[in-house]
Amino acid sequence: MYYPEEIVEEVRTRNDIVDVISGYVKLQKKGSNYFGLCPFHNEKSPSFSVSPQKQMYYCFGCGAGGNAITFVMEYESFTFPEALKFLADRAGVRLPEAEYSREEREKADRRLEILKINKVAANYFYYQLHQPQGRYGYEYFKKRGLTEETVRRFGLGYANKTSNDLYQYLKSKGYGDAILKDSGLVTMEERGAYDKFWNRVMFPIMDVNSKVVGFGGRVMGEGEPKYLNSPETLVFDKSRNLYGLNYARTSREKYMLLCEGYMDVIALQQAGFVNAVASLGTALTAQHAVLLKRYTEQVILTYDSDGAGVKAALRAIPILKEAGISTKVLNMKPYKDPDEFIKNLGAKAFSQRIEEAQNSFLYEIEVLKREYQLEDPEQKTRFYHKVAQKLLEFEEELERDNYIQAVAREYMVPYEHLRRLVNRLGSMPGAVSKSAQDRQREPVREAERKKEKDDGNRRAQRLLLTWLIERPELFARIEGILTPEDFVEPLYHQTAELVFAGHRQGKVNPAEILNYFINDEEQYREVAALFHARLEESLNNEEQKKAFSDIVYRVKKNSLEQASQKAADIGELQRIIREQAALKKLSITWE
Ligand code: CTP
Ligand code: MN
Repeated sequence: MYYPEEIVEEVRTRNDIVDVISGYVKLQKKGSNYFGLCPFHNEKSPSFSVSPQKQMYYCFGCGAGGNAITFVMEYESFTFPEALKFLADRAGVRLPEAEYSREEREKADRRLEILKINKVAANYFYYQLHQPQGRYGYEYFKKRGLTEETVRRFGLGYANKTSNDLYQYLKSKGYGDAILKDSGLVTMEERGAYDKFWNRVMFPIMDVNSKVVGFGGRVMGEGEPKYLNSPETLVFDKSRNLYGLNYARTSREKYMLLCEGYMDVIALQQAGFVNAVASLGTALTAQHAVLLKRYTEQVILTYDSDGAGVKAALRAIPILKEAGISTKVLNMKPYKDPDEFIKNLGAKAFSQRIEEAQNSFLYEIEVLKREYQLEDPEQKTRFYHKVAQKLLEFEEELERDNYIQAVAREYMVPYEHLRRLVNRLGSMPGAVSKSAQDRQREPVREAERKKEKDDGNRRAQRLLLTWLIERPELFARIEGILTPEDFVEPLYHQTAELVFAGHRQGKVNPAEILNYFINDEEQYREVAALFHARLEESLNNEEQKKAFSDIVYRVKKNSLEQASQKAADIGELQRIIREQAALKKLSITWE
């Protein structure tokens, strides 16, 4: 599907962003912007802002940001064409039908139809559960301690013993064989159509917006497979869905409980821990982690206490870390999983375990310890070496030192010994003749300094782009000095090209610029953030002027520095050096 830019722009401009978002979020005017509680993460005080001037929203809490189109994409889980259609209808804009490739339109229609089928099926299973033929299912849930309220909340159901009654039912509702097959609820065999699920209790899997995207079905009692899940379909991608997240996202806790199974989430939520989610039948993926990061900064792992659970936890920790989530691990012993724990010891004891949850690094070390016989001096030494090696994962010195202290305390090694060991291992590669002290610290410190500098340079570029959007008059001040190439990050550069082009035509339109990035969620989020950079504290006029010239200077300096490293020949290098000299003398003014 391809819509011409003008159409996309027309739809966007005909939908005022404040209007659109007011339909979902209660907004209050503050200064020139509107504020409300962010619908994309949990918060108590509003950090979600909507700018009528920029026609953009941005959450200073979680970083969600975009224009009217991306808002409905995220809120309604729409694809881009769906969002465009929705907004076009809303504003009475007619979309050119032909622009939709037939293939794409069919796919979008099929997605919607499968969602509808899933909803009908979920209602059917729920209904069956409450009929005489569903009595076993109902009793099964009762036996496992679920209340009627919980059954309703999770839409639990029952798939009959007969092998194709759901199929018959869906046929009677007018759905054809092809789409039923695509829904994953029915398998087509030579001898006819069969329901995928029969004689199982059913767990509808909902996405963040409570749309049923798939199902899990459990045998009542023993049997293989214990759980049967929907296959991947147009609407169901296991690696991007977390069971229970539609409820957990509304919890007010600062952390989420991540567990293994359906019943764990349900038992926890029933016991009052609404912030429980599970990745279903698959290991945690990077996409899961990114999804979680939208709603929380911290995860408490409540995986099963058996060997498989420990393995899963060790695999999940680095994935969560990579997404910027800090992790703790809850000790479930002597029970296997949260469901059993709650049933035996109750919610209060579980809260206590949450309190006592262990820092994920210390947990990793503890698991590591089990591989060594510490009574044997040689093995003990190897263990400490391994620990020291692991401590080097912390790039930041202060953080590393805190962990060295914690490990020293926990394993009763003298702190100084451990610290020296860590530093020695850290200095192994590329040691030159320097004082011993320097040699120990150099590599890590160097990396730290470089990172800080890079962050600073990126931040300067972001601030400058924000200013160029918020104060168009500043463009004239920098025009002869900076070019889009000076924004060295590739994505920033691309954005700067668009901002500069806009200024040259006399009108920058940030929400329009976002449309260029709409096909890539990571990118439009980042570009939205580019237009909402903030100086930490509000500066007075004088300070702003100073900050502006500092930042222009910094962006240019960084760009020249990078260029000089890449210079192809001496002539180019000389030109850069001349520019660097000129920059020192330059005065950049705000007015
Ligand atoms: N699972 C699955 N397919 C299986 C077994 C398990 O998809 N054959 C998934 C299910 O999502 C299940 C989770 O892995 O909820 C955890 O499995 P397990 O620990 O075996 O089950 P429990 O959660 O303890 O389920 P129950 O309490 O119902 O026995
Ligand atoms: Mn269980």
